[in-house]
Amino acid sequence: MTADPNPQPTAPALKNDLFIRACFRRPVERTPVWIMRQAGRYLPEYRALRAKVDFLTSCRTPGIACEITLQPIRRLGVDAAILFSDILLPLPGMGMPIEFDPGPKIEDPVRSRAAVEALRTPDAREATPYVLDAVRLIRRELAGTVPLIGFAGAPFTMATYLVEGGGSKSFGAIKSLLFCDPGTAHVLLSKCADTIASYLCEQVRAGAQAAMLFDTWAGILSPADYRAFALPYARRVFDAVGRAAADSAGAGASAGRGGAGATPGAGGSSPFPGVPRIYYAGEAAGYIEAVAEIGAEVAGLDWRMGLAAARRQLGAGMAVQGNLDPCALFGPRELIERRAREVLLEAKGIDTLPQAGAGGAPEAADAVGAARVPGADGGEPRGSRGPSSATDAGSPIGAATGHVFNLGHGILPETPPDHALFLVETVRRLTSGYRA
Ligand code: CP3
Repeated sequence: MTADPNPQPTAPALKNDLFIRACFRRPVERTPVWIMRQAGRYLPEYRALRAKVDFLTSCRTPGIACEITLQPIRRLGVDAAILFSDILLPLPGMGMPIEFDPGPKIEDPVRSRAAVEALRTPDAREATPYVLDAVRLIRRELAGTVPLIGFAGAPFTMATYLVEGGGSKSFGAIKSLLFCDPGTAHVLLSKCADTIASYLCEQVRAGAQAAMLFDTWAGILSPADYRAFALPYARRVFDAVGRAAADSAGAGASAGRGGAGATPGAGGSSPFPGVPRIYYAGEAAGYIEAVAEIGAEVAGLDWRMGLAAARRQLGAGMAVQGNLDPCALFGPRELIERRAREVLLEAKGIDTLPQAGAGGAPEAADAVGAARVPGADGGEPRGSRGPSSATDAGSPIGAATGHVFNLGHGILPETPPDHALFLVETVRRLTSGYRA
C-alpha cells in the first residue's frame, strides 16, 4: 500500500460535514446520525468477511479494516465513518497479549506493582502502524464524502481491562487496586494515558477527522473516584489530541482550547473548523458535571440519562451524542420511530436552555438563532410542541444544534439490518429542512 503520509492539510473540503458542524454546535440543516459499532456482526457482509478472517487479523490488515469500515457507509448512508478497530489493540505493544472470543481476554492480567512497572508505553507508529495505514487508506477511499472518526479506549476503561483480564460483573480486581494501592493505580493509569495519547494523536495525524474516547466502565466509579482516577487521565489524552490536531491542521486552523480548533469561531466561516473530541461516558449520571471539564467538544451518553438533563449539567459548552437504547431496534418500525422522536425532542430541549448563546461562544448563539429554537421568539416552532408531540407520527421535528444522533451503546448483533437503515432514514426525515 502506498499511503499518503499526511492527507489532511491538502484534503478537499468534506462533502458532508454535518457531523463536524454539530460537534462544534454550528447550524445544521438536519441532525447527523451514525451508529456505534455500525460495522459488526449484525451485518451479513461483515459476517461473510469474518467467516474467512479472524477479528484481530481484520483489524491488523488495513485493506480489510477499510472494507469493513465502509460496509455501513454503503448500506446505511450514515453521516460519519468510524475506523474499524478496537480499544484494546494498543495492549500487545504495552507487553500484554490479547485474544477475542468474541469478547476480549487477557491471559495474565496486571495485578502487581511489578506487572505495572513492566508495562511499556509504546509509540503508536511502532506498535500499531497498521491502524494508521488503515486511517490513511479509509480517508482515501471515503474521498471526502463523510468524516472519519478515530477512537481509543479512555485510560480508566483500558486499565480496567488490563487488571480484570476481560469483562467483569463486580470489578473487584480494579477497585482493589484503586482502593488498596492507589499509588500503583496512578502509575498504571498514567501509562495507559501516555499509550492512548500516542495511539489517538497518531490517528489524527494520519487523517482521522474526529477523535473519540470510550469510557465504557467509568460508571462503576463513585463521583469522587471518577475525579481521582478517570477524569485527569482522559483530559490528558484530549489535551494531547488538541495539540496534535492543531499541529496537523497548520496555520489555517483555529487555535482554541487545547488547540484542536475547539473554538470554532476562530475558524470563521470555514466549513471544517477542526477535529472534534468526543467523550463517550458510560452510565454517566453520577459524574456528568465532571464531564464538562474533560476537554472534549462532545459528550456521548447512554440511554440511562435524558439528553436535556445531561446538557443542563454539562452547560452550553458541549454538544451531545446519543442516546437511543440499542434494544429499540428490536421493535417494529412504529416503536423505532417513536423512540427516535423522543430522543430528538430531548435534544431540541437543549436549545431552550438559557445558557445557550448567553455568554458562550458567539457561534453558539448564531447556531441557536439559526435553528429558531422553541420559545426563542415566544412562539412554538413547527412540529415541536413539547413532549406531547412525541407520538405525532410523521410530523417533522427539525434539527437541534449540538446534537449527533446515535445509539446509547453499540448496536447488538441480533439487530435486523433493515431496522438500522430505517432508523437512519427516520432521523433524516424527522430533522430535515428545518432551518432559517
Ligand atoms: O463502531 C464501530 O463500528 C467500530 C468498531 C469498534 C469495535 N470495538 C469493533 C469490535 C469499536 C468502536 C469498539 C470499541 C470497544 N471495544 C469498546 C468501547 C465501546 C463499548 O462497546 O463500550 C469496548 C469496551 C471494546 C472491547 C471489546 N471488543 C468487547 C467488549 C468486544 C466483544 C463485544 C461483542 O460484540 O461481542 C470486542 C470485540 C469487538 N470489537 C467486535 C467488534 C465488531 C466483535 C468481534 C466479532 O466477533 O466480530
